[in-house]
Amino acid sequence: MSTNQKPVKITETALRDAHQSLIATRMTTEQILPIVEKLDQVGYHSLEAWGGATFDACLRFLNEDPWERLRKIRERAKNTKLQMLFRGQNILGYKNYADDVVEYFVQKSLANGMDIIRIFDALNDVRNLECAINACQKEGGHVQAVVCYTISPVHNVENFVKMAKELEERGADSICIKDMAGLLLPYTAYELVKAMKETVKVPIQLHTHYTSGVASMTYLKAIEAGVDVVDCAISPMSLGTSQPPTEPLVATLQGTPYDTGLNLDLLSEIADYFRPLREEYLASGLLNPKMLGVDVNTLLYQVPGGMLSNLVSQLKQQGKEDQLEEVLKEVPRVREDLGFPPLVTPSSQIVGTQAVLNVIMGERYKMVTKETKGIVKGEYGTTPVPIKEEFVKKIIGDEEQITCRPADLIKPELDAMREQIKEYIEQDEDVLSYALFDQVAVKFFEKRRAEKYKLDHDLANMEEMTHPV
Ligand code: CO
Repeated sequence: MSTNQKPVKITETALRDAHQSLIATRMTTEQILPIVEKLDQVGYHSLEAWGGATFDACLRFLNEDPWERLRKIRERAKNTKLQMLFRGQNILGYKNYADDVVEYFVQKSLANGMDIIRIFDALNDVRNLECAINACQKEGGHVQAVVCYTISPVHNVENFVKMAKELEERGADSICIKDMAGLLLPYTAYELVKAMKETVKVPIQLHTHYTSGVASMTYLKAIEAGVDVVDCAISPMSLGTSQPPTEPLVATLQGTPYDTGLNLDLLSEIADYFRPLREEYLASGLLNPKMLGVDVNTLLYQVPGGMLSNLVSQLKQQGKEDQLEEVLKEVPRVREDLGFPPLVTPSSQIVGTQAVLNVIMGERYKMVTKETKGIVKGEYGTTPVPIKEEFVKKIIGDEEQITCRPADLIKPELDAMREQIKEYIEQDEDVLSYALFDQVAVKFFEKRRAEKYKLDHDLANMEEMTHPV
């Protein structure tokens, strides 16, 4: 048996990325909890169950406390590691936060039951990962540092491997190759994983999406090249803009040196749980069948699944759905202007929104978003290649660009925030919800307080009824 041939491990994404990619992160805690104990019996490497957009969606759309969700999942997943996605200095939000917020968020995530924190930066600027990596190490969590995979004239296997090496040197316990758009083709994956395995010692995990239809083939080649862990979703929550389905990969590898050892009967019971939910999402319109097919545009325009659905909905709101094709052509041009950022939150939204504006205004950069200006100014970090001087001038005029680590310019924020929301605080974690989603969190706190008041009131009434005076 060559050293590359060993059992492959699987991370199940049904509770985070799969529903984030398919149904705009609307799976509720009530829908999640009944299946966690069964998921826990499978023997997955980990359950990706938190982070990414789940936190925002809980507070904004589901009227749920995301911390409570984490604790409840943890209670039921006694044997399996929990994993979350963490956007470096952006945490789970859309801008840079001060180091004290990043550190406290990491600390509280681990304290509430998280095991593995997958940390990425949209620009692959390693300086933006530093604070979260150090905090996770300090608290004894597993640091999984991310190399965002993308295709551009300036990205290649050599510089991805170099980045992985640097992340290992900075303390990563494992490396994730994150292909958020489903752009990684099977033979490139082979080459990339092989080169990475030859250079770094820590395990390599591969994350991709089915959007372009190549994902399962990509996994197979990556497995042959020695990848340690791959991200899959149980079949009813898989395919399309989500991850490759778990069961076919498990079946494919059975009886080979890569055998995952997972039990297909048990996986089938889990699929039985999710199938009616999928039907429900389809019936309510939450799951758009358009998200489930093979999207060749992804290969042509290199647009991640989530970004594609955002573009469609932005155009819909303007009544300009017919301009999708033009917007998809504009995306790579905006990307080039902005120094070839990988397209992942938040850069995918920034590039996408700017591309929509450029098309619907009928003139490029007639309107420029605050966020586009932010990238040009260097507020998000260093872009993979420097932005052309003449474009910088056009977008920010004579304003100066930032060259230091952006968070070095942000003063500690937590104490002031605690003060601002002291009337609402019911748990230490509330200040973090507020730090990330300010008014959205306040609205949630208000509803929570109102419900609690109503509950107390009802209890008092019941008391009166049972003990009439
Ligand atoms: Co993803």
